[in-house]
Amino acid sequence: MNLSDFTAEASSHAAAVDRLFYVLVGLSIFISLAVFALVLLFSLRYRRGSRAKRGPMPKFIQREVEIGWTCATFVLFLFIFWWAAASQLSALTPPKNALEISVVAKQWMWKVEQPNGVREINEIHVPADKPVRLSMISQDVIHSLFLPALRIKQDVLPQRYTYLWFTARKTGTFHLTCAEFCGTEHSRMAGRIVVLPPADYARWIEAQPEKLGLAREGEALYRSLGCSGCHATASTVHAPDLNGVFGRSVHLADGRTVTADEAYLRDSILLPGRDIVAGYEPVMPSYRGIVSEEQMIRLLAYLKSSSIKQGAEP
Ligand code: CUA
Repeated sequence: MNLSDFTAEASSHAAAVDRLFYVLVGLSIFISLAVFALVLLFSLRYRRGSRAKRGPMPKFIQREVEIGWTCATFVLFLFIFWWAAASQLSALTPPKNALEISVVAKQWMWKVEQPNGVREINEIHVPADKPVRLSMISQDVIHSLFLPALRIKQDVLPQRYTYLWFTARKTGTFHLTCAEFCGTEHSRMAGRIVVLPPADYARWIEAQPEKLGLAREGEALYRSLGCSGCHATASTVHAPDLNGVFGRSVHLADGRTVTADEAYLRDSILLPGRDIVAGYEPVMPSYRGIVSEEQMIRLLAYLKSSSIKQGAEP
């Protein structure tokens, strides 16, 4: 890691974080200097033997000034809290058109997959000026993906997807590291993020060995794992139709209604007995230990692409 990772504002978010940081530093310096100046002033003015006026403070200092500065600092700190919270919250919702890149963390490496299935290890290539969403999961313990030049960090958990999004504003190569102690080789779980101009990114993707794309690979898995055998209109097994299921509201047997997002679909594959869809029998076997995280990403990409041809068999 070098200094440029901390000085480069490589994302739009970085500029906002830095502005807040500099304002806080400036405020702290200003207040520290003011306190020092007053300490100095009073220790000179009220030194032993000086003729300065002593005795009770004037009434307006005891009341108006006291109330005034208490309220002023309260409002100031509330403003800083709102400012910091707003900038953090905006970092939670990615724009709809974000490029989705999958990250699987394991002891001790980052496995990255581009939307078209191109794989990378400890390296993420992204286009500049385009929103990118990282969809992340861990295969073992808790890790944390930290991109200092972009001023963003997010824990990567086992059994649960977490997300990080950014728009890179500067091209170049920046540091990427794990920020959660995850075992003996934790310190070596680092790599780089390469921000390319969009045209170069397209060229880079082209130059990689030919891939089917995550959704297409997911479709093949959907068949080879046997999902298509039951989840098809023509099937004799009564199972929910998964055509365009992603993002839909699903009514469950226990009366709840959930949205079929990544977490729900993942749970339905690994823990099928938990959220039974209303009107169906709990007959689906668990795929825990059968589907790897990489395969799960492909299955979800396929379900998301919502291109499941009803009853289509190979
Ligand atoms: Cu992974 Cu530290």
